[in-house]
Amino acid sequence: MLLQSGVDPVHSRKILVTGGAGYIGSHTVRLLLKQGHDVVVVDNLSKGYRHNVPEGRLRELDLTDTAALASLMGEHGTEAVIHFAAFIAVGESMREPERYFANNVSGSLSLLTAMLQAGVKHIVFSSTAAVYGNPASSPIAETFPIQPVNPYGESKVMVETMLRWFDQIHGVTSVCLRYFNASGADPDGGLGEEHEPETHLIPLLLRAVMTGKPVTVFGADYDTPDGTCIRDYIHVNDLAQAHILAVEHLSGGGASDQFNVGTGTGHTVMEMIHAVETVTGKKVPYTVGPRREGDPPGLVAASDKLRSRLGWSPEFADLRTIVQHAWNFAIARKA
Ligand SMILES: NC(=O)c1ccc[n+]([C@@H]2O[C@H](COP(=O)([O-])OP(=O)(O)OC[C@H]3O[C@@H](n4cnc5c(N)ncnc54)[C@H](O)[C@@H]3O)[C@@H](O)[C@H]2O)c1
Repeated sequence: MLLQSGVDPVHSRKILVTGGAGYIGSHTVRLLLKQGHDVVVVDNLSKGYRHNVPEGRLRELDLTDTAALASLMGEHGTEAVIHFAAFIAVGESMREPERYFANNVSGSLSLLTAMLQAGVKHIVFSSTAAVYGNPASSPIAETFPIQPVNPYGESKVMVETMLRWFDQIHGVTSVCLRYFNASGADPDGGLGEEHEPETHLIPLLLRAVMTGKPVTVFGADYDTPDGTCIRDYIHVNDLAQAHILAVEHLSGGGASDQFNVGTGTGHTVMEMIHAVETVTGKKVPYTVGPRREGDPPGLVAASDKLRSRLGWSPEFADLRTIVQHAWNFAIARKA
Protein backbone atom coordinates (compact mmCIF):
# COMPACT_ATOMS: atom_id res chain seq x y z
CA MET A 1 0.00 0.00 0.00
CA LEU A 2 1.29 3.44 -0.90
CA LEU A 3 1.18 5.79 2.04
CA GLN A 4 2.21 9.36 1.60
CA SER A 5 3.36 11.67 4.38
CA GLY A 6 1.04 12.91 7.09
CA VAL A 7 -1.67 10.31 6.57
CA ASP A 8 -3.34 8.31 9.29
CA PRO A 9 -3.16 4.67 8.08
CA VAL A 10 -6.26 3.75 10.14
CA HIS A 11 -8.42 5.55 7.61
CA SER A 12 -6.67 4.18 4.54
CA ARG A 13 -9.09 2.32 2.29
CA LYS A 14 -8.70 -0.01 -0.67
CA ILE A 15 -10.51 1.61 -3.55
CA LEU A 16 -10.98 0.49 -7.13
CA VAL A 17 -11.46 3.39 -9.55
CA THR A 18 -12.93 2.75 -12.99
CA GLY A 19 -12.12 5.36 -15.63
CA GLY A 20 -9.16 6.55 -13.56
CA ALA A 21 -7.14 7.37 -16.69
CA GLY A 22 -9.71 10.00 -17.71
CA TYR A 23 -10.14 13.60 -16.68
CA ILE A 24 -12.08 13.47 -13.41
CA GLY A 25 -10.94 9.96 -12.49
CA SER A 26 -7.24 10.82 -12.68
CA HIS A 27 -7.67 13.85 -10.41
CA THR A 28 -9.59 11.70 -7.93
CA VAL A 29 -6.90 9.00 -8.00
CA ARG A 30 -4.25 11.60 -7.28
CA LEU A 31 -6.21 12.97 -4.33
CA LEU A 32 -6.96 9.48 -2.99
CA LEU A 33 -3.26 8.61 -3.06
CA LYS A 34 -2.35 11.92 -1.46
CA GLN A 35 -4.78 11.12 1.36
CA GLY A 36 -3.20 7.71 1.88
CA HIS A 37 -5.66 5.36 0.19
CA ASP A 38 -4.66 2.22 -1.70
CA VAL A 39 -5.93 2.61 -5.26
CA VAL A 40 -6.19 0.34 -8.27
CA VAL A 41 -7.38 1.82 -11.58
CA VAL A 42 -9.42 -0.01 -14.22
CA ASP A 43 -9.50 1.67 -17.63
CA ASN A 44 -9.57 0.38 -21.19
CA LEU A 45 -7.85 3.58 -22.42
CA SER A 46 -10.59 4.13 -25.02
CA LYS A 47 -10.68 7.78 -23.97
CA GLY A 48 -8.19 8.08 -21.14
CA TYR A 49 -4.40 8.22 -21.06
CA ARG A 50 -1.80 5.95 -19.55
CA HIS A 51 0.22 9.03 -18.53
CA ASN A 52 -2.64 10.10 -16.20
CA VAL A 53 -2.16 7.09 -13.93
CA PRO A 54 0.79 6.66 -11.55
CA GLU A 55 3.15 3.80 -12.33
CA GLY A 56 1.89 0.36 -11.28
CA ARG A 57 -1.71 1.40 -10.58
CA LEU A 58 -3.37 0.77 -13.96
CA ARG A 59 -5.10 -2.46 -15.01
CA GLU A 60 -6.02 -2.19 -18.67
CA LEU A 61 -9.46 -3.83 -18.59
CA ASP A 62 -12.88 -3.26 -20.10
CA LEU A 63 -15.90 -2.90 -17.82
CA THR A 64 -17.55 -5.80 -19.61
CA ASP A 65 -14.90 -8.26 -18.37
CA THR A 66 -16.84 -9.28 -15.26
CA ALA A 67 -14.59 -12.20 -14.33
CA ALA A 68 -11.39 -10.17 -14.53
CA LEU A 69 -12.94 -7.36 -12.50
CA ALA A 70 -14.12 -9.75 -9.79
CA SER A 71 -10.74 -11.42 -9.51
CA LEU A 72 -8.97 -8.04 -9.40
CA MET A 73 -11.28 -6.93 -6.57
CA GLY A 74 -10.48 -10.15 -4.71
CA GLU A 75 -6.70 -9.77 -5.11
CA HIS A 76 -6.77 -6.09 -4.18
CA GLY A 77 -9.17 -6.55 -1.27
CA THR A 78 -11.33 -3.74 -2.68
CA GLU A 79 -13.60 -2.13 -0.07
CA ALA A 80 -15.30 0.39 -2.33
CA VAL A 81 -15.56 1.24 -6.02
CA ILE A 82 -15.60 4.71 -7.56
CA HIS A 83 -17.13 4.35 -10.99
CA PHE A 84 -16.24 7.02 -13.59
CA ALA A 85 -15.86 4.88 -16.72
CA ALA A 86 -18.43 5.87 -19.34
CA PHE A 87 -18.89 7.63 -22.65
CA ILE A 88 -19.72 11.26 -21.98
CA ALA A 89 -20.67 13.14 -25.16
CA VAL A 90 -24.32 14.21 -25.28
CA GLY A 91 -24.33 14.95 -29.03
CA GLU A 92 -22.76 11.61 -29.90
CA SER A 93 -25.36 9.85 -27.74
CA MET A 94 -28.09 11.41 -29.90
CA ARG A 95 -26.49 9.81 -32.99
CA GLU A 96 -25.38 6.49 -31.53
CA PRO A 97 -27.56 5.68 -28.50
CA GLU A 98 -26.68 1.98 -28.74
CA ARG A 99 -23.05 2.72 -27.85
CA TYR A 100 -24.13 4.70 -24.79
CA PHE A 101 -26.50 2.04 -23.49
CA ALA A 102 -23.92 -0.70 -24.16
CA ASN A 103 -20.97 1.01 -22.56
CA ASN A 104 -22.61 3.00 -19.78
CA VAL A 105 -25.43 0.65 -18.79
CA SER A 106 -24.18 -2.85 -19.67
CA GLY A 107 -20.69 -1.85 -18.54
CA SER A 108 -22.05 -0.75 -15.16
CA LEU A 109 -24.12 -3.92 -14.81
CA SER A 110 -21.00 -6.00 -15.43
CA LEU A 111 -19.15 -3.99 -12.77
CA LEU A 112 -21.98 -4.46 -10.27
CA THR A 113 -22.05 -8.18 -10.99
CA ALA A 114 -18.31 -8.36 -10.34
CA MET A 115 -18.85 -6.50 -7.05
CA LEU A 116 -21.43 -9.09 -5.99
CA GLN A 117 -19.04 -11.92 -6.89
CA ALA A 118 -16.22 -10.30 -4.93
CA GLY A 119 -18.39 -9.20 -1.99
CA VAL A 120 -17.75 -5.45 -2.47
CA LYS A 121 -20.55 -3.50 -0.81
CA HIS A 122 -20.05 0.18 -1.67
CA ILE A 123 -19.97 2.21 -4.87
CA VAL A 124 -19.78 5.92 -5.73
CA PHE A 125 -21.21 6.59 -9.15
CA SER A 126 -20.55 9.47 -11.60
CA SER A 127 -23.98 10.71 -12.46
CA THR A 128 -24.79 14.03 -14.06
CA ALA A 129 -27.03 17.10 -14.07
CA ALA A 130 -28.25 15.71 -17.41
CA VAL A 131 -30.61 13.45 -15.42
CA TYR A 132 -32.77 16.58 -14.84
CA GLY A 133 -33.12 17.35 -18.55
CA ASN A 134 -34.45 20.87 -19.07
CA PRO A 135 -35.65 21.80 -15.59
CA ALA A 136 -38.37 24.41 -15.19
CA SER A 137 -36.31 26.45 -12.74
CA SER A 138 -32.84 26.81 -11.27
CA PRO A 139 -31.11 26.19 -8.82
CA ILE A 140 -31.84 22.52 -9.20
CA ALA A 141 -32.46 20.39 -6.11
CA GLU A 142 -32.04 16.61 -5.98
CA THR A 143 -35.83 16.33 -5.61
CA PHE A 144 -36.45 17.83 -9.07
CA PRO A 145 -38.09 15.51 -11.63
CA ILE A 146 -35.79 13.05 -13.36
CA GLN A 147 -36.47 13.58 -17.06
CA PRO A 148 -33.38 13.24 -19.25
CA VAL A 149 -33.59 14.56 -22.79
CA ASN A 150 -30.81 12.51 -24.39
CA PRO A 151 -29.53 8.90 -24.27
CA TYR A 152 -26.42 9.96 -22.33
CA GLY A 153 -28.56 11.31 -19.47
CA GLU A 154 -30.91 8.34 -19.76
CA SER A 155 -27.99 5.92 -19.47
CA LYS A 156 -27.07 7.54 -16.14
CA VAL A 157 -30.67 7.35 -14.90
CA MET A 158 -30.71 3.65 -15.78
CA VAL A 159 -27.60 3.04 -13.70
CA GLU A 160 -29.04 5.06 -10.78
CA THR A 161 -32.12 2.81 -11.02
CA MET A 162 -30.03 -0.38 -11.02
CA LEU A 163 -28.16 0.90 -7.97
CA ARG A 164 -31.43 1.40 -6.08
CA TRP A 165 -32.37 -2.25 -6.70
CA PHE A 166 -28.88 -3.53 -5.89
CA ASP A 167 -29.16 -1.83 -2.51
CA GLN A 168 -32.66 -3.14 -1.82
CA ILE A 169 -31.91 -6.71 -2.90
CA HIS A 170 -28.16 -7.19 -2.35
CA GLY A 171 -27.33 -4.56 0.27
CA VAL A 172 -24.84 -2.76 -2.01
CA THR A 173 -24.91 0.88 -0.87
CA SER A 174 -24.24 3.68 -3.33
CA VAL A 175 -23.83 7.41 -3.66
CA CYS A 176 -24.78 8.94 -6.99
CA LEU A 177 -22.99 12.23 -7.52
CA ARG A 178 -24.75 14.36 -10.12
CA TYR A 179 -22.03 16.64 -11.43
CA PHE A 180 -22.58 19.99 -13.02
CA ASN A 181 -19.76 21.35 -15.26
CA ALA A 182 -16.46 19.79 -14.24
CA SER A 183 -13.63 22.22 -14.94
CA GLY A 184 -10.10 23.32 -14.07
CA ALA A 185 -7.05 21.19 -13.44
CA ASP A 186 -4.91 20.02 -10.53
CA PRO A 187 -3.05 23.05 -9.11
CA ASP A 188 0.02 20.82 -8.68
CA GLY A 189 0.19 20.44 -12.49
CA GLY A 190 0.50 17.47 -14.82
CA LEU A 191 -3.20 16.61 -14.95
CA GLY A 192 -5.97 18.38 -16.83
CA GLU A 193 -8.74 18.10 -19.37
CA GLU A 194 -7.80 16.30 -22.61
CA HIS A 195 -11.09 15.08 -24.10
CA GLU A 196 -11.02 14.10 -27.75
CA PRO A 197 -13.13 15.54 -29.25
CA GLU A 198 -13.35 18.38 -26.75
CA THR A 199 -16.84 19.73 -26.11
CA HIS A 200 -16.31 21.63 -22.86
CA LEU A 201 -16.25 25.40 -22.73
CA ILE A 202 -13.02 26.27 -20.92
CA PRO A 203 -10.65 24.06 -22.95
CA LEU A 204 -12.37 25.26 -26.14
CA LEU A 205 -11.89 28.92 -25.17
CA LEU A 206 -8.24 28.29 -24.28
CA ARG A 207 -7.73 26.48 -27.56
CA ALA A 208 -9.22 29.47 -29.41
CA VAL A 209 -6.80 31.78 -27.61
CA MET A 210 -3.86 29.54 -28.50
CA THR A 211 -4.74 28.88 -32.14
CA GLY A 212 -6.51 32.14 -33.04
CA LYS A 213 -9.37 30.06 -34.50
CA PRO A 214 -12.74 31.41 -33.33
CA VAL A 215 -14.93 29.39 -31.04
CA THR A 216 -18.73 29.42 -31.47
CA VAL A 217 -20.97 30.73 -28.71
CA PHE A 218 -24.26 28.85 -29.08
CA GLY A 219 -26.95 31.49 -28.65
CA ALA A 220 -26.78 35.01 -27.21
CA ASP A 221 -30.53 35.59 -27.06
CA TYR A 222 -31.43 33.65 -23.91
CA ASP A 223 -33.28 35.27 -21.06
CA THR A 224 -30.09 35.73 -18.99
CA PRO A 225 -28.24 38.94 -18.02
CA ASP A 226 -26.05 38.94 -21.17
CA GLY A 227 -28.09 36.52 -23.34
CA THR A 228 -25.70 33.57 -23.04
CA CYS A 229 -26.25 30.30 -21.16
CA ILE A 230 -25.54 30.01 -17.45
CA ARG A 231 -23.71 26.98 -16.04
CA ASP A 232 -22.31 25.93 -12.67
CA TYR A 233 -18.55 25.28 -13.00
CA ILE A 234 -17.13 22.95 -10.40
CA HIS A 235 -13.37 22.58 -9.98
CA VAL A 236 -12.26 19.02 -10.68
CA ASN A 237 -10.38 18.76 -7.36
CA ASP A 238 -13.49 19.82 -5.43
CA LEU A 239 -15.38 17.20 -7.38
CA ALA A 240 -12.70 14.63 -6.51
CA GLN A 241 -13.01 15.50 -2.82
CA ALA A 242 -16.78 14.90 -2.96
CA HIS A 243 -16.05 11.29 -4.04
CA ILE A 244 -13.73 10.69 -1.13
CA LEU A 245 -16.33 12.05 1.32
CA ALA A 246 -18.93 9.80 -0.31
CA VAL A 247 -16.70 6.73 0.17
CA GLU A 248 -16.25 7.67 3.83
CA HIS A 249 -20.02 8.08 4.19
CA LEU A 250 -20.70 4.61 2.78
CA SER A 251 -17.81 2.90 4.57
CA GLY A 252 -19.07 4.35 7.85
CA GLY A 253 -22.44 2.68 7.32
CA GLY A 254 -24.18 5.64 5.65
CA ALA A 255 -27.26 4.98 3.52
CA SER A 256 -27.47 5.17 -0.27
CA ASP A 257 -28.17 8.68 -1.52
CA GLN A 258 -27.92 11.12 -4.43
CA PHE A 259 -26.18 14.50 -4.32
CA ASN A 260 -25.68 17.35 -6.74
CA VAL A 261 -22.08 18.50 -7.06
CA GLY A 262 -21.86 22.14 -8.03
CA THR A 263 -20.92 25.41 -6.35
CA GLY A 264 -24.45 26.81 -6.39
CA THR A 265 -23.29 29.82 -8.44
CA GLY A 266 -23.83 30.17 -12.16
CA HIS A 267 -21.71 31.97 -14.75
CA THR A 268 -22.64 32.95 -18.28
CA VAL A 269 -20.56 32.05 -21.32
CA MET A 270 -19.64 35.74 -21.67
CA GLU A 271 -18.44 35.87 -18.06
CA MET A 272 -16.28 32.86 -18.83
CA ILE A 273 -14.87 34.55 -21.92
CA HIS A 274 -13.94 37.57 -19.78
CA ALA A 275 -12.32 35.33 -17.16
CA VAL A 276 -10.25 33.63 -19.88
CA GLU A 277 -9.20 37.03 -21.26
CA THR A 278 -8.17 38.21 -17.78
CA VAL A 279 -6.16 35.08 -17.04
CA THR A 280 -4.46 34.71 -20.43
CA GLY A 281 -4.10 38.45 -21.18
CA LYS A 282 -5.42 37.72 -24.69
CA LYS A 283 -8.68 38.28 -26.54
CA VAL A 284 -10.82 35.21 -27.14
CA PRO A 285 -11.77 35.01 -30.83
CA TYR A 286 -15.43 33.97 -31.03
CA THR A 287 -18.52 34.12 -33.22
CA VAL A 288 -22.12 33.89 -32.08
CA GLY A 289 -24.06 30.99 -33.61
CA PRO A 290 -27.63 29.78 -33.18
CA ARG A 291 -28.83 28.10 -30.02
CA ARG A 292 -27.97 24.41 -29.67
CA GLU A 293 -31.01 22.18 -29.53
CA GLY A 294 -31.76 21.04 -25.99
CA ASP A 295 -29.48 23.55 -24.24
CA PRO A 296 -31.33 24.88 -21.17
CA PRO A 297 -30.67 28.60 -20.44
CA GLY A 298 -29.51 27.97 -16.88
CA LEU A 299 -28.21 24.91 -15.02
CA VAL A 300 -27.13 25.69 -11.48
CA ALA A 301 -26.95 23.22 -8.63
CA ALA A 302 -28.54 23.52 -5.26
CA SER A 303 -25.59 22.07 -3.37
CA ASP A 304 -26.80 22.44 0.22
CA LYS A 305 -27.43 18.71 0.59
CA LEU A 306 -23.82 17.75 -0.18
CA ARG A 307 -22.57 20.51 2.10
CA SER A 308 -24.79 19.67 5.06
CA ARG A 309 -24.82 15.85 4.86
CA LEU A 310 -21.24 15.12 3.74
CA GLY A 311 -19.51 18.25 5.05
CA TRP A 312 -18.29 19.22 1.59
CA SER A 313 -17.35 22.73 0.57
CA PRO A 314 -15.54 23.87 -2.56
CA GLU A 315 -11.97 25.11 -2.18
CA PHE A 316 -11.66 26.57 -5.69
CA ALA A 317 -15.04 28.18 -6.39
CA ASP A 318 -13.57 31.34 -7.91
CA LEU A 319 -13.89 31.35 -11.69
CA ARG A 320 -10.50 32.91 -12.33
CA THR A 321 -8.77 30.27 -10.23
CA ILE A 322 -10.51 27.53 -12.21
CA VAL A 323 -9.46 29.14 -15.50
CA GLN A 324 -5.92 29.78 -14.22
CA HIS A 325 -5.44 26.08 -13.40
CA ALA A 326 -6.82 25.03 -16.79
CA TRP A 327 -4.54 27.57 -18.50
CA ASN A 328 -1.46 26.34 -16.60
CA PHE A 329 -2.24 22.84 -17.87
CA ALA A 330 -2.88 23.99 -21.46
CA ILE A 331 0.47 25.81 -21.54
CA ALA A 332 2.35 22.89 -19.99
CA ARG A 333 0.81 20.44 -22.46
CA LYS A 334 1.80 22.57 -25.41
CA ALA A 335 5.38 23.01 -24.14
N1 LIG B 1 -16.73 16.03 -17.53
C1 LIG B 1 -17.89 16.48 -17.04
O1 LIG B 1 -18.15 17.70 -17.01
C2 LIG B 1 -18.91 15.51 -16.50
C3 LIG B 1 -20.15 15.99 -16.08
C4 LIG B 1 -21.09 15.10 -15.56
C5 LIG B 1 -20.78 13.75 -15.43
N2 LIG B 1 -19.57 13.29 -15.86
C6 LIG B 1 -19.28 11.86 -15.72
O2 LIG B 1 -18.02 11.71 -15.09
C7 LIG B 1 -17.36 10.54 -15.57
C8 LIG B 1 -15.94 10.89 -15.99
O3 LIG B 1 -15.97 11.92 -16.96
P1 LIG B 1 -14.63 12.47 -17.61
O4 LIG B 1 -14.89 13.86 -18.07
O5 LIG B 1 -13.49 12.21 -16.69
O6 LIG B 1 -14.53 11.51 -18.89
P2 LIG B 1 -13.24 10.83 -19.58
O7 LIG B 1 -13.67 10.41 -20.93
O8 LIG B 1 -12.05 11.74 -19.46
O9 LIG B 1 -12.98 9.56 -18.66
C9 LIG B 1 -13.71 8.37 -18.79
C10 LIG B 1 -12.72 7.22 -18.68
O10 LIG B 1 -13.43 5.99 -18.74
C11 LIG B 1 -12.72 5.08 -19.58
N3 LIG B 1 -13.71 4.12 -20.09
C12 LIG B 1 -14.82 4.38 -20.84
N4 LIG B 1 -15.48 3.25 -21.11
C13 LIG B 1 -14.79 2.23 -20.51
C14 LIG B 1 -14.97 0.82 -20.42
N5 LIG B 1 -15.99 0.21 -21.03
N6 LIG B 1 -14.07 0.10 -19.72
C15 LIG B 1 -13.03 0.71 -19.10
N7 LIG B 1 -12.79 2.03 -19.15
C16 LIG B 1 -13.66 2.79 -19.86
C17 LIG B 1 -12.11 5.95 -20.66
O11 LIG B 1 -10.99 5.37 -21.28
C18 LIG B 1 -11.72 7.21 -19.84
O12 LIG B 1 -10.42 7.11 -19.31
C19 LIG B 1 -18.24 9.98 -16.67
O13 LIG B 1 -19.01 8.93 -16.14
C20 LIG B 1 -19.14 11.15 -17.04
O14 LIG B 1 -20.38 10.72 -17.52
C21 LIG B 1 -18.64 14.14 -16.39
